[in-house]
Amino acid sequence: MKIITCVAPVNIAVIKYWGKRDEELILPLNDSISATLNIEHMCAKTTIMASSNFKENKIWLNGKEESFQNPRLSNCLKELKKRSQTQSDVINWNIHVCSENNFPTAAGLASSAAGYACFVYALAKLYEVEGDVTYIARQGSGSACRSIYGGWVQWHAGALKDGSDSIATQIVPASHWPEMRVVILVVSDSQKKNSSTNAMKRSAATSKFLEYRIKHIVPERTEKMIQAIKDRDFETFATITMKDSNQFHSVCLDTFPPVKYMNETSFIIVDLIHTYNEFRGSTKVAYTFDAGANACLYLLEEDVPEVISLIQNAFPTNTDHVEYFRGIPVTEQE
Ligand code: DP6
Repeated sequence: MKIITCVAPVNIAVIKYWGKRDEELILPLNDSISATLNIEHMCAKTTIMASSNFKENKIWLNGKEESFQNPRLSNCLKELKKRSQTQSDVINWNIHVCSENNFPTAAGLASSAAGYACFVYALAKLYEVEGDVTYIARQGSGSACRSIYGGWVQWHAGALKDGSDSIATQIVPASHWPEMRVVILVVSDSQKKNSSTNAMKRSAATSKFLEYRIKHIVPERTEKMIQAIKDRDFETFATITMKDSNQFHSVCLDTFPPVKYMNETSFIIVDLIHTYNEFRGSTKVAYTFDAGANACLYLLEEDVPEVISLIQNAFPTNTDHVEYFRGIPVTEQE
């Protein structure tokens, strides 16, 4: 028997990935950029056991057994076996996988990204796979490829049909911008979540605005974002982050039938952040929303206490169901 345990952190996109050019290989229509959060605060932990005695492959997610007959899981497994350098028999054994998140799954916060990144990373260790594995993690869940690296990460859409150029690379490590923090506001939402996989497929099929975004907006925005991160230019970084989040949710509404992720509380948070930035006389906080109502705020360490008390004042008794994870640094680890 061989056992491997790994942890992989969540990443939060500042240029959003939305829409695929290839559904099976999970190739995106546009480049995206994210920061990987500190591993202790929000991560997936995966243990993989391989044994000649196991009759079949099995997987448990947060304690519940799920089917291994999932093309995304089998594609990752197949790719990793293809690239394996191991001389051992482990490659022929079945595996049992246990994966857990240390943050509420109900938060709907990129749990599949951390989960697949962890699964692929752990298997790569088990099978002694050398070199880039982001293109394999991508085949589990697109955004997972960005969680393979720490700091600021770009996922390149690539142009090749086989997807070999659609990989993630690190822009700069977390140490480049050590003051950067993320505050996560968990806005509880009774609405059933539209899976991002299905929703983005519908957007790609029906939204002209998505087509326009991919051609005319994201390329220039990506360049500007990379420069802002390299220059530690918070104002530019924050403005692009908020605009890109708003544009992504506008694309969701332009989808037919439309997809709605943000709720009333999300919009109260948007207004609050704009009012706060105006009051401070410059942009001190950026919000961004993924495929759910929860807000992720990017801000600098020195502004965390004031912004937390602002949120506490706005949602004093938690009747609006806003919980917060305080000041999570961007991770140093790879
Ligand atoms: C809104 O990576 O979950 O979070 O590739 O179909 O698994 P699949 O989708 P997924 O989509 C994430 C979308 C997003 C934006 C982002 O993280 O870039």
